[in-house]
Amino acid sequence: MMNAQDQALTLRHVTHPEDANHQGTIFGGKILSLIDEAAYLEARKHGLHRWVTILFDRVEFKAPVFTGDVLTVFTKTAATGRSSVTVSVDVEAERYRGGEKVMVTHATVKMVAVDKDGHSVDFRTKPEISDHLHP
Ligand SMILES: CC(C)(COP(=O)(O)OP(=O)(O)OC[C@H]1O[C@@H](n2cnc3c(N)ncnc32)[C@H](O)[C@@H]1OP(=O)(O)O)[C@@H](O)C(=O)NCCC(=O)NCCS
Repeated sequence: MMNAQDQALTLRHVTHPEDANHQGTIFGGKILSLIDEAAYLEARKHGLHRWVTILFDRVEFKAPVFTGDVLTVFTKTAATGRSSVTVSVDVEAERYRGGEKVMVTHATVKMVAVDKDGHSVDFRTKPEISDHLHP
C-alpha cells in the first residue's frame, strides 16, 4: 500500500515539458521507465549484479500526471527466488499547484540477476559486474 512503513522512497522526479505528450499530460512510457529504474534500485539492494527486467505485471494509470507534478516512487521487495527479486512499486504524484498527493499507479516488477553472458545467476553469490562499460 502507498506509504506503508516497509516501503522505501526510492526515487523522485520533477516532471518537465519533455516528459509530456501532446495533450500536456505525462507520457505513460516515462512513468514505466521510472518504475523500471526504481525496481532496479530495489533489486540492487540484494547484490550489485547486472539486473534485467523480466516481467511487468498489469499497470493501470489511475490518475493523470501533469507537467510540474513531482513523482515519488516507493518500492518494496515482495518476494525473492534463486535469481529473481519481485518488487512492488507504487507511484504517487504531488500536484504542482497545491501539493495534493494522488496515487498514480501500482506495478509489480520482476528482476533477474544475470552473468556477463546473460544467464541467470543466484543473486546470493558474489556479484561479478566488471565489463566493457565498467572496467
Ligand atoms: C531474464 C532471462 C535471462 C531469464 O532467462 P530464463 O532462461 O528464463 O532463466 P531461468 O529459467 O533461469 O529463470 C530465471 C528466473 O526468472 C523466472 N522466470 C522465468 N520466466 C518467467 C516468466 N515468464 N514469468 C515470471 N518469472 C519467470 C524464473 O522463475 C527464475 O526465477 P528464480 O531463479 O528466482 O527461481 C531472459 O528471459 C532474458 O534475458 N530476458 C531479457 C531481459 C532483458 O533484457 N530485459 C530488459 C528489457 S529488454
